[in-house]
Amino acid sequence: MKDLQNIKQRFGITGNYDGLNRALDIAVQVAPTDLSVLITGESGTGKEAFPQVIHNFSTRKHGQYIAVNCGAIPEGTIDSELFGHEKGSFTGATESRKGYFEVADGGTIFLDEVAELPLSTQVRLLRVLETGEFIRVGSSKVQKTNVRVIAASNVDVTIAIQHDKFREDLFYRLNTVPIKIPPLRDRGEDIFLLFRKFASDFAEKYRMPSIRLSNEAKNVLLNYSWPGNVRQLKNITEQISIIEKEREIGPEVLQSYLPDYTGVKLPAVIKRDEDKSFSSEREILYKILFDMKSDMNDLKKLVLDLIKTGELDITFHESNSGVIKNLIRDAGRDNPVHGSAESHPVDLPLHHSRNNIQDTEEVVEESLSLAGKEIEMIRKALEKYNGKRKMAAHELGISERTLYRKIKEYEIEM
Ligand SMILES: Nc1ncnc2c1ncn2[C@@H]1O[C@H](COP(=O)(O)OP(=O)(O)OP(=O)(O)O)[C@@H](O)[C@H]1O
Ligand SMILES: [Mg+2]
Repeated sequence: MKDLQNIKQRFGITGNYDGLNRALDIAVQVAPTDLSVLITGESGTGKEAFPQVIHNFSTRKHGQYIAVNCGAIPEGTIDSELFGHEKGSFTGATESRKGYFEVADGGTIFLDEVAELPLSTQVRLLRVLETGEFIRVGSSKVQKTNVRVIAASNVDVTIAIQHDKFREDLFYRLNTVPIKIPPLRDRGEDIFLLFRKFASDFAEKYRMPSIRLSNEAKNVLLNYSWPGNVRQLKNITEQISIIEKEREIGPEVLQSYLPDYTGVKLPAVIKRDEDKSFSSEREILYKILFDMKSDMNDLKKLVLDLIKTGELDITFHESNSGVIKNLIRDAGRDNPVHGSAESHPVDLPLHHSRNNIQDTEEVVEESLSLAGKEIEMIRKALEKYNGKRKMAAHELGISERTLYRKIKEYEIEM
């Protein structure tokens, strides 16, 4: 096996990604045979180096190597370009002319963007592949040629077949040995190697210090989807090298050169990220709810403390009784130490003990007034229910035991 590193150096291929090494290895293995090779991969992945590797490691290396961009030649002239024409065969055909298949006899033809070939040309191509025979446009003479064909496509040829744009038999004939070039976004660390290579190439070309990436910028490079693959990386490295004065490139500067940068690589990943952002949204909602619950508990505790210390006189407002009951019940739940077999485990205090540093006089005054109101309410409740403590306590929103203690404390007479 040839040394892949040497081959990479010779053909200007940077990278160590497994998929790239595999593709190169296949190219080297298949080179000495005459098998047709179809190279596929997204635009800008670096397909063009591969047919050259194959040609140069084949026995045809001293023969012609002709690269034809099938997508760039007008439909009306492509047959003529590939197979030649006779003088006068069409308007403007003032001379007879050899086509690439004739010229490349004994060599290699690289048919780039092969899916763009018109169907009529595909018929001619299939014939030359199968029999080595071709006919110049405007001629009836069958000629022979010995050409190795390597094709490439950045579109899925099987889709072109489904749309009747590409002959299936030709596809199988071309695809004898398939080579897939991986997209840049899958190549991991290779992206840094490529960036460094291009940055140093452009530094040399424009005679300036090489640009470098900060660690955050490296992450941006890794997380971008690179729709234009290596070509795009090369282009933006050149742009940044020329435009940016600061040689250390941060994430913001880098992002400004990347259209549609979202921090995610693939549609599939984008979807996953949507899920992630949804789950993080849910997390935020949970947090808000938890915070609200915690605030509520704090408020409850505060209110309860105020009631306990007698600073808040809401105990006996009828409309509040249910709320207060719940408050007391909750406090009992939160402080099981105070819990008892009774339904209202936390009792309201009999004494208004305030241990904070507020104006004592005011506190006393207020406390007295609270006590007076309390007595009044207890009396009213007992009267309403004919001295039935259980019902009075219920109405007041306090436990029977507390009511009993209060009656004793205030020496309320029935
Ligand atoms: N591994 C690599 N190392 C260094 N340069 C690379 C590499 N791959 C691609 N390039 C550079 O990126 C550019 C695009 O590569 P190439 O023209 O081979 O893409 P392609 O796959 O043929 O794309 P398309 O399908 O659009 O024709 C070229 O300038 C090429 O030199
Ligand atoms: Mg190309």
